[in-house]
Amino acid sequence: MTMTYADLHQRSLTDRDAFWREQSARIDWHRRPEQICDTSHPPFARWFSGGLTNLCHNAVDRHAGTRGQQAALIYVSTETDTEQVITFAELHQEVQTMAAMLHSLGVRQGDRVLLYMPMIPEAVIAMLATVRLGAIHSVVFGGFASTSLASRIDDAQPKVIVTADAGSRGGKVIPYKPLLDEALRQATHAVDHVLLVDRKLAPADRLPPRDVDHAKLRAQHLQAKVPCTWVDATHPSYILYTSGTTGKPKGVQRDTGGYAVALAASMEHIYQGEPGETFLCVSDIGWVVGHSYIVYGPLITGMATIIYEGLPTRPDAAIWWSLVEKYKVSVMFSSPTAIRVLKKQDPACLQRHDLSSLKHLFLAGEPLDEPTGRWISEAIGKPIIDNYWQTETGWPILSVAHGVQADLPTKFGSPGLPMLGYDVRLLDEATGDEITDPQHKGVVAIQYPLPPGCLQTIWGDDQRFISTYWSSFTRQYAYNTFDWGIRDAEGYYFILGRTDDVINVAGHRLGTREIEEAISAHPAVAEVAVVGVADSLKGQVPMAFAVLKNASTIVTVEQQQALEADVMRTVDQQLGAVGRPARVVFVNVLPKTRSGKLLRRAIQAVCEGRDAGDLTTIEDPTALAQLQAQLKR
Ligand code: PRX
Repeated sequence: MTMTYADLHQRSLTDRDAFWREQSARIDWHRRPEQICDTSHPPFARWFSGGLTNLCHNAVDRHAGTRGQQAALIYVSTETDTEQVITFAELHQEVQTMAAMLHSLGVRQGDRVLLYMPMIPEAVIAMLATVRLGAIHSVVFGGFASTSLASRIDDAQPKVIVTADAGSRGGKVIPYKPLLDEALRQATHAVDHVLLVDRKLAPADRLPPRDVDHAKLRAQHLQAKVPCTWVDATHPSYILYTSGTTGKPKGVQRDTGGYAVALAASMEHIYQGEPGETFLCVSDIGWVVGHSYIVYGPLITGMATIIYEGLPTRPDAAIWWSLVEKYKVSVMFSSPTAIRVLKKQDPACLQRHDLSSLKHLFLAGEPLDEPTGRWISEAIGKPIIDNYWQTETGWPILSVAHGVQADLPTKFGSPGLPMLGYDVRLLDEATGDEITDPQHKGVVAIQYPLPPGCLQTIWGDDQRFISTYWSSFTRQYAYNTFDWGIRDAEGYYFILGRTDDVINVAGHRLGTREIEEAISAHPAVAEVAVVGVADSLKGQVPMAFAVLKNASTIVTVEQQQALEADVMRTVDQQLGAVGRPARVVFVNVLPKTRSGKLLRRAIQAVCEGRDAGDLTTIEDPTALAQLQAQLKR
């Protein structure tokens, strides 16, 4: 008898260890786990300890024998007009070659390898080769600039950095190497080596003996045989930095065995991808979606995965759908913002290609508004499945698990129901009491322990892990997602936005503090507040309000515009273009409470044309009106 979703979800919580023991059989183990979930040190949870495995083995080696001639990586760049198919057998050799190269540069088990890479096969190969050696990768999104990169280098302390001369976006070459060189000048940590993939897109300075050419070193290791290093299931596989309330990025640390098991299970229960099929996830390896569903999830399942470098609209809005037809994509994963971009294009683009191979389209990263959901589902005639999760969790918290129960309804505006192993609760922000009545707003929380695949800790900072995620609710041992939510009578959740200062720009997670710190680096700026403002295309955009050290310098509109552009350039240099505010508005005073706390929610309300709410604590009652007047200028 097949179990319903409700039965299986219940069982995953009440018979937790038996459930996850069964799920653990989805991956290869060099030695079986001794313990399923070690909860002896809450809020930490250690999954599958005593078990020996390797992520690269599960993603590559075990398929190289059975499906060696099948495509593993399909690389498509509309930026450089390149298409390349790498089979599992070829990938097996390439990861060994790269592992030998990294080993020759001194990388050993537990060492960190930082990647600052565009979307090219070498990036995925370097990730796989790193975990093959039992080393730990940390991919930094290519949209981040020198200062943010430097802070990540200092935190992760990598032995080696893998980079490329440049990326490309919309036909515009974006040099990477000079940004990395600048970051290394700013960082206090010194790396042994930089491995440079030269795509011949941009000139790149080389600093021997630190900088090593990828092609030259590869030529020395073409036939290398490097066995997988068997590591404990709890051994870290990667660090991925994400934004929080403070300016200092958090290094989300992921394990090995729990992650592999969770991804393998999610591929069947949620994404329903089968070995031999093709997965198209149009994210970037610099984000968690890329880690889990461009790289590890599909490969662990024995699927081909498409690495796409380019825009969704170039050469035209049919490009993704042409890939679906050409490579018989069965599962596709994108973001609501990308769909809103397509919606503005010629709808005929969507009808031009044969999409019969496609089973469903998954969207994640930000709220999926109903009009966008309806539009795309009608345009392509396929089920659209929302899924809600975080860098911290590594795989969906909420979705509709059609791989468990095919007839579960989806609801527009709701990502769905708790996924297997997640004990999701809604808690009252002030009291921590559980909210059980339908349609009551609360903070989305997850009862201890988190299922496998979720963050183990913050890299190098257990205390921050506890104080950030586990200390909000004194009456419950619960993980705080920092998202508001409500639940309907049928148990479907609706996500209402963040409770903290994290914003979501085109599905990219950013901290307003990070942007404020970047703007503060501008010599003319005395003080600044950044808020996320609703945007019909990107979901949210950052808006900055700055008080100048000397306001008399910007008398004319031209002076104002010039300074605004200059402040934006500072953000580009410090943080990267991803964090560039939509506008920088100069004001005389920022709205604060009498105790000096910025009234961010009031600023945000004014920007969105809403009522600013209770302002009894405001220090200068004219501050908001001034801000509003400046906004209109
Ligand atoms: O606020 C939620 C929003 O994005 C945050 C996590 O972003 P990130 O760490 O980049 O991970 C993205 C993984 C898909 C969440 O705290 N978010 C993510 N997915 C959804 C969402 N909000 C609403 N609906 C979603 N499906």
